[in-house]
Amino acid sequence: MPDTHFYRYDDYDRTLVRERIAQFRDQVRRRLAGELTEEQFKPLRLTNGLYLQLHAYMLRIAIPYGTLSSRQLRKLADIARRYDRGYGHFTTRQNLQLNWIRLEDAPDALAALAEVDMHAMQTSGNCIRNVTADHFAGAAADEIEDPRIWCEIVRQWSTLHPEFSFLPRKFKIAITGSPNDRAAVRVHDIGLRLWRNPEGRVGFEVIVGGGLGRTPMIGKTLREFLPREELLAYLEATLRVYNRYGRRDNLYKARIKILVHEIGAEKMRAEVEAEYAAVRDGALRLPAATIEAIAAQFAPPALPHRPAIAAEVERLRLEDRAFALWLRSNTAPHRLAGYRIVTASLKPAGAPPGDASAAQMDGVADIADAFSQGEVRVSHEQNLVFPHVAVDDLPEVHRALGRLGFAEANVGKIGDIIACPGLDYCALANARSIPVAQRISGHFAELARQHDIGDLKIKISGCINACGHHHVGHIGILGVDKNGVELYQISLGGDVDFGRTAIGTILGPAIEADRVVGAVDSLVATYLERRTDGERFVDTYRRVGAQPFKERVYAAV
Ligand code: HEM
Ligand code: SF4
Repeated sequence: MPDTHFYRYDDYDRTLVRERIAQFRDQVRRRLAGELTEEQFKPLRLTNGLYLQLHAYMLRIAIPYGTLSSRQLRKLADIARRYDRGYGHFTTRQNLQLNWIRLEDAPDALAALAEVDMHAMQTSGNCIRNVTADHFAGAAADEIEDPRIWCEIVRQWSTLHPEFSFLPRKFKIAITGSPNDRAAVRVHDIGLRLWRNPEGRVGFEVIVGGGLGRTPMIGKTLREFLPREELLAYLEATLRVYNRYGRRDNLYKARIKILVHEIGAEKMRAEVEAEYAAVRDGALRLPAATIEAIAAQFAPPALPHRPAIAAEVERLRLEDRAFALWLRSNTAPHRLAGYRIVTASLKPAGAPPGDASAAQMDGVADIADAFSQGEVRVSHEQNLVFPHVAVDDLPEVHRALGRLGFAEANVGKIGDIIACPGLDYCALANARSIPVAQRISGHFAELARQHDIGDLKIKISGCINACGHHHVGHIGILGVDKNGVELYQISLGGDVDFGRTAIGTILGPAIEADRVVGAVDSLVATYLERRTDGERFVDTYRRVGAQPFKERVYAAV
């Protein structure tokens, strides 16, 4: 099995990561010896992805463009087993968080990561964070171009970029190469959408100033069409404008979305274009040879011809209800007939969303080796994805995932909940998120019912920072604190997939934890009564408005 069908570190990358670990090892030694105070140490650990949370240190590991080889995933399992409590948490921005790292082990954990060309740099701090991509990249039937090529180019440009290491605030970039956005590009600081213009050329729509957090905003299109080779020049120009004018005086107003909001998209565009005109013909213009060299590393695997229809799949589809549901919700069209993209649901009913034990990670790596060219993806929905599974292997993959507990046929359904760590781990939380998610998914455990309810995304955050994307959930749930009591505020009508981005609207007063499941039940019942054929929950909500939902929820409590 080849190691990767994506970018491999060269000597430059390896040296950079190795030097950084040596430096950090010495910083940790000095901290443990009492030569550095926590205050002096904090910026040093944060630039290496090491946070201090409620109970312990937390290490956030970047998974560039959400792509992992089986070898890398096994190493993550090994690190979780050796240096943490034997599990990890996959996040919405294609990172893995280990919640119980011991400080003295952190340098060894980073050294182990480096063995498989991974690191935790720029997963914290006011810099350009891990660049995320469509988790179906390189495999999706609807793709125009693999966005990971461009993520890698941006990664190389942005890693330790001296001018952009101390921005007014953190900076998140996402790239999609398909018209059906699966990377949430409109809620990123910069979202890039590859598309083909009427002349047949592929370039970027550049969307700037989106974000969630305490002031959710949908990004504005600054450029309809940017030639690909000018990407870095345009990004440099945008970041320069942000670096110059971003609000450093107020933490809550420091993100680029506030700048765009305050000066307006027109003025922002004019500023960026002026800066861009000055740099576009300089060193940042990407030579065709550079693009080609990176693109070559993402050359798709040579997939053997496989039958588009398999007798066993057809038989199971008719005879095995669980398989039929799984096929419908957890597999997606591949660019090649004879293959499907398979999503492993990290949301078994009643379990913490996005968690995987070391044994489960090893199991996923084994499935990837046997059935998906040794490759795994991390989705922004906190699931794992096998990009290249032959149709006639689907029954076996389903069984293998079942043994791991990852075959729940709930992708995109009410049980496929996004939740942030909340009060169980996070120092900023107002309320618990994970137990709320567990209770909701436990309540709706019956899969046939989930499929009857259809596409419904519930997203839960433990505070206004919105790590759980509650603003863009069809049902959003936000933990708030009222005089020391954990309450939950419900919003409806948010959306983020397939370019239908919308921010949800608050339904009414916040409710107690033990009323949340009942409230979700009432929302679902209202929808089921009022939906028309083929209408999703969020479409019914848009058509009939909040009132019937509100009446039912607040009458029931
Ligand atoms: C437990 C440690 C964590 C801490 C301390 C933390 C802290 C924060 C803070 C302070 C913000 C708001 C930043 C701003 O708007 O300027 C934020 C935003 C965000 N975080 Fe977290 N977070 C944590 C874990 C996570 C996890 C586990 C995920 C994914 C499941 C996540 C995903 C996000 C996302 C997607 C945003 C979106 C808001 C945006 O940037 O527009 N975070 N986080
Ligand atoms: S939303 Fe709040 S509670 Fe949840 S992880 Fe982010 S900062 Fe912590």
